Order: sequence, then structure tokens, then C-alpha cells
Amino acid sequence: MKKILITGCAGYIGGTFCYEALKKNYEVLGIDNFINSTDKNIKYFKKNFSKFRFVDLDLSISGEKVKDIFNDFAPDYVVHFAGLKAVGESETKPDLYWQNNVLSTMNIMEACLSGTRLIFSSSATVYGESVIQPISEKCAIKSESVYGSTKISSELLIKDYSRTKNIEAICLRYFNPVGSHKDGIVVEDYTNKPNNLMPKLIEVIKNKSNEISVFGNDYNTQDGTGERDYIHISDLVAGHFSAIEYIYDNEENLFKTYNLGTGKATSVLELVESFNRVNSTNIKIDFTDRRKGDVEVCYADPHLANCELKWKAVYSIDEMCRDAWNAVKNDT
Ligand SMILES: NC(=O)c1ccc[n+]([C@@H]2O[C@H](COP(=O)([O-])OP(=O)(O)OC[C@H]3O[C@@H](n4cnc5c(N)ncnc54)[C@H](O)[C@@H]3O)[C@@H](O)[C@H]2O)c1
Repeated sequence: MKKILITGCAGYIGGTFCYEALKKNYEVLGIDNFINSTDKNIKYFKKNFSKFRFVDLDLSISGEKVKDIFNDFAPDYVVHFAGLKAVGESETKPDLYWQNNVLSTMNIMEACLSGTRLIFSSSATVYGESVIQPISEKCAIKSESVYGSTKISSELLIKDYSRTKNIEAICLRYFNPVGSHKDGIVVEDYTNKPNNLMPKLIEVIKNKSNEISVFGNDYNTQDGTGERDYIHISDLVAGHFSAIEYIYDNEENLFKTYNLGTGKATSVLELVESFNRVNSTNIKIDFTDRRKGDVEVCYADPHLANCELKWKAVYSIDEMCRDAWNAVKNDT
């Protein structure tokens, strides 16, 4: 069976992907340094899957160590999730974000042998505040935060290495991943994402305040609230396996970018209504002023991934809300 090296496998998306890869019987080597996670997922993988090995390593620090690991394991695929992802924090700690996100990617690209196939976790943040909606891969790239700059730079770095070192690479630009895998093994850590809508809904139910502030109801959208493209974590993870199949079938020196989104814009009010309905909760809304940095609408044109990767998001907003709450409702 094929070997996959997964960076950031202790985290939300990398952990969910790792779980699925192990269930599919891949041999997995995971790397993480727990800068934004605990060892909960790693303990579970070690206990339940004999084909899982793990290295605790900061990928941004020692290029030589990363090279040794790659040489020993000789992965067929590398899926690079490791990175810091908080836009606000990136503005106050640019040095940390450049060092952590870009140097890690650099060390990985240096360690990849010719012919390696690599999938990279990019983000819709690379499009900045796009006036064109839905956003296709042809839309302009624009950095509007340090985090965005590190994703754009990592993509460029990967593109150059792909061309000069014969590494086949796909950058997947995620829209708004939410929810948890239905098995409830890997669960998003909601505690450190206080400004995102789904974590906020979960927080207000947990602390029984049952009311959320919604920033702005005067946007030029159907109901006046901001619209986003939410994508179920299981659809997102499936997109990575489609990318793996595609990259396996295609020629040398491949470099591609794809949007992973549903192509549907869902408003804040629609998401709250769905959450209340499917989970029998009663969260109320308190409208406040618009929040600086929030865009009116942001959603994907996923046509390219639908056609070339033969992948399509299938989960509904109701399923995202249900699975997000189901995974955490029994936690204390
Ligand atoms: N979750 C989202 O909304 C979202 C959206 C777009 C893109 N992304 C990207 O997807 C990737 C995974 O995101 P996530 O939501 O799973 O985040 P996460 O924080 O849950 O997981 C990232 C993991 O990477 C590890 N890590 C970070 N820097 C490291 C380093 N230098 N060495 C080793 N391990 C390191 C962290 O400890 C963590 O376990 C990130 O690159 C993120 O930028 C996430």
C-alpha cells in the first residue's frame, strides 16, 4: 500500500484526513509539534492503527531533520497541512507566521525527492476581498493579511520547486471548513476560534447565553447579513483523496490550484436558522455594527475541481450544523 507523509496531523483538518487515510489502509507517517493542538488524535491513531507512525517536530526549525525523515520514509505522497491559521494573530505576530508557515513549506520542498507528489493546504484568503463572485481560480491573488501573504508565498514556493525539482503539486484553496467527521474521533478545537460563526454558535449553547452578536445586517445580500461558502470537513477531506488520484494519474511537473467549496453562499441568518432547527436549540440574534475586515460575500466557483478532480461537495448546511454539534454536545 502507498505511503503518505502528513504534516499537521494532530490538528483539525490534517487529523481528519489522517483518520480517513488510515481507514483506507495507507501507511502514514505523521508530523506535528502541537503548536496549535494536543496529542489526543495522535494517541488514538497510535492505539488503533498499526500503520501509523509519528514524529514530534517543528518543521520550520531543522531542514536537515526534515530531509532525514523524508529519506527514511520515502513517501509516495506528502500532504502538508501544518501551519498557523489565525488571521488576527498573524497581524500582531508577522515574524511567527512567516517563520512558521513559509520556512516549514521551504524545508518540506527541500526535502522532497524528484517525483514526489504533494498536496498543500491553501486558503480562499489568497483572493483577498475579491469583487468577482463566485471566485474562480482565474481571479486575482491579493494579500490582505500576513496569513494571506504566507499562503500566497507558500504557493509560489511550491510552484517554483515543482518546476525545478520535478515535484508534482496541487494547492487546494479551502473556503470555510466546518463540522466534524461523523465518527466523532477528530473534532475541531472550538476554543481557539472565538470569531468564527460555527464555534461561536457552539460556545453560546455551551455557556447557555443563547444569544450571538451578528456584525452587520445592512450588507447588499439577500437578508442583509454576510454570506460565506461553508464546506463540511468530510467533503474537504474527500477533495484531498480526489487530488491524490488526479496527481497519481497525471504527468511530471504538474502544478495546479483548485478551489474546494460548495459554490453556495449561505448567510449568517441562514446558518443560525439551520443550526437551531436541526439541533433543537434557540439561539437568538443581536445585530451590531459591521466588523472591520469582514467582506460582504465570499464563495467559490468549484467548477474546476468538479471537472478535473471529479470531486463535488455533497453535504448540506443542515448536515454541517448537525455534525458540528453532535461531535461536541457531550463534552463537558
Ligand atoms: N480551518 C480553516 O478554516 C482553514 C481554512 C483555510 C485553510 N486552512 C489551512 O489548513 C491547514 C490545517 O488547518 P487546521 O484547521 O487543521 O488547523 P489546526 O491548527 O487544527 O492544525 C494545524 C496543525 O499544524 C501543526 N503545526 C503548525 N505549525 C507547525 C510546525 N511548524 N511544525 C509542525 N507542526 C505544526 C499544529 O500544531 C496543528 O496540529 C492550515 O495550513 C490552515 O492554514 C484552514
